[in-house]
Amino acid sequence: MAGMIPRQFIDDLLARADIVELIDSRVPLKKAGKNYQACCPFHTEKSPSFSVSQDKQFYHCFGCGEHGNAISFLMEFDRLEFPDAIEELASHYNMQVPREENKQTPAQQKQQQQAYQQKQDDYQLMEQISRFYQQQLKVASDKDTAINYLKGRGLSGEIVKKFGVGYISDAWDGMMSVFGRSSAATKQLVDLGMAIQGDKNKPYDRFRGRIQFPIRDKRGRVVGFGGRVLGDGTPKYLNSPETRIYHKGQELYGLYEAKQANKQLQRLVVVEGYMDVVALAQHGVNYAVASLGTATTPEQLQTLFRTVKEIICCYDGDRAGRDAAWRAMDNALPLIQDGYSLRFVFLPDGEDPDSLIRQQGQQAFEKILDNATPLTEFIFEQLMQKTDMNSLEGKAALMDSFHGYLNKMPESTIKDGMKTKLANLFGAGSAQQLEKLNKNLSNTNSRKVVNKKTKITPVRLAIALLLEHPHIVNALPNATILQELDMPGIPLLNQLLQLCKQNTEVNSAQLIEYFRGTEQGNQLAKLICWQHHVEADAAENVFLDSIEKLLSSFIDKRYEELVHKERAEGLNKQEKQELQVLLNS
Ligand code: UTP
Ligand code: MN
Repeated sequence: MAGMIPRQFIDDLLARADIVELIDSRVPLKKAGKNYQACCPFHTEKSPSFSVSQDKQFYHCFGCGEHGNAISFLMEFDRLEFPDAIEELASHYNMQVPREENKQTPAQQKQQQQAYQQKQDDYQLMEQISRFYQQQLKVASDKDTAINYLKGRGLSGEIVKKFGVGYISDAWDGMMSVFGRSSAATKQLVDLGMAIQGDKNKPYDRFRGRIQFPIRDKRGRVVGFGGRVLGDGTPKYLNSPETRIYHKGQELYGLYEAKQANKQLQRLVVVEGYMDVVALAQHGVNYAVASLGTATTPEQLQTLFRTVKEIICCYDGDRAGRDAAWRAMDNALPLIQDGYSLRFVFLPDGEDPDSLIRQQGQQAFEKILDNATPLTEFIFEQLMQKTDMNSLEGKAALMDSFHGYLNKMPESTIKDGMKTKLANLFGAGSAQQLEKLNKNLSNTNSRKVVNKKTKITPVRLAIALLLEHPHIVNALPNATILQELDMPGIPLLNQLLQLCKQNTEVNSAQLIEYFRGTEQGNQLAKLICWQHHVEADAAENVFLDSIEKLLSSFIDKRYEELVHKERAEGLNKQEKQELQVLLNS
């Protein structure tokens, strides 16, 4: 199994990489003073606020707040996971990515190895069963009933094959008689939800007399099935249970097939059913996925937004459909950035995407998609329904109900638009309302654009300067000088001092990389983009000055503490000595 990528390698890679060259190969950059700039690839804009610094090996957009090093850029722009972004960057420099030996006990290693092997076997078995179901469409004694059913639903042989749709006749052991020949195999089939262990009898087929839709994960591996009865039996659909390889909240039916069908996926439509996905593909809309349950989960939305920037959720027009849309919207809010869109379609009563596209065809259906309701409009519509807009109380309540939702959103023009729209509902005095709104919203968001007025404190300044010019650590005779200080920000500054001391060649991008995904990482990202107006040649002096200020304010504070204690309850021997030292310093 692949171990962790050694920290040292990531360091070396970032030392070798040139972020300007990397970004320029994807987004042409123009030189602007010391830095390079372009229109931001992560949000729509007319004048460039996306800036790339060669010194810092860091990019930052002053419009949307997007920022990071070369690895972050590949993750965001190429939509890669962290290890894949490293592979990509490394391949550019002909560097092979090493993997760390597992630092586990032999027993743990063995267990992990077994679990890994088990899953590989599971995927293989599920693939074989899927092939078997497909084969049954050709050889089962009642295959004609199944084929006629699929034909009756308007599906061609070609599309059936693309989605790997299969069939299993109604028998207790149709699949088990082929795959469950040993007790180990039987157990595996029960574990994978393909067979059911009754109280006494031996395990039997879960899926019987059904059209079988294989559910594939992102990498195309069959992880489960959905089975539909041919007639009016119940339940209409039977689904694989959660297993060690199938977690339904994480998978999307049809995503793998949609990616296979489209080199450059532009948008994805989220629908409710297996048949909707397949029928849409049959009629040329080969970019639909089904969420495999009633609600679209945060994990699914994250997967969707990692794949495309435009998502359209298609629901029934009834109450249940609106509730499902509301939950999807709520789960999606933290992911809505500029350039990303989530919209909703509510279908007429009694229709679903399958019935609609069969009646009206691809063009009409895509027109409905094009006219989908944007997220903002949907929220306003839903919240205002519950509000009496004629009374001040009603308006105030609306304002309140919006807070929770706005708070979940990262900063974006979409969010700004929502705030303005909300404030405008108050007519006269709307400017005041907007101001109030901005004040009330908490400022915890990591994507928040750096406030140019970030208050200058010695600790902030020291961190920012060190990040920008790591070599100035050499001007500090003793890098452990601050270790005893107990003040906000000091632990982070100390960590940075250590990192810079250990590696004299370290650059900003490498420093930031140590803190990826942590709260400190967010703080550092803000500080690295902070416009403090300290010129490079003054950096060292200002840095030393900040450290001195930190020390002296600590000394003052400690001195006061001790004097206070002396008056109140007296000092012990050690404290007396300390006070003496402080008095002399
Ligand atoms: P629907 O009842 O809307 O069915 O269920 P459908 O997709 O239109 O199916 P057809 O057209 O009659 O074949 C939508 C989805 O809800 C889940 C399935 O994922 C289904 O695709 N479902 C529905 C179940 O899991 N079990 C059921 O019994 C019914
Ligand atoms: Mn249907």
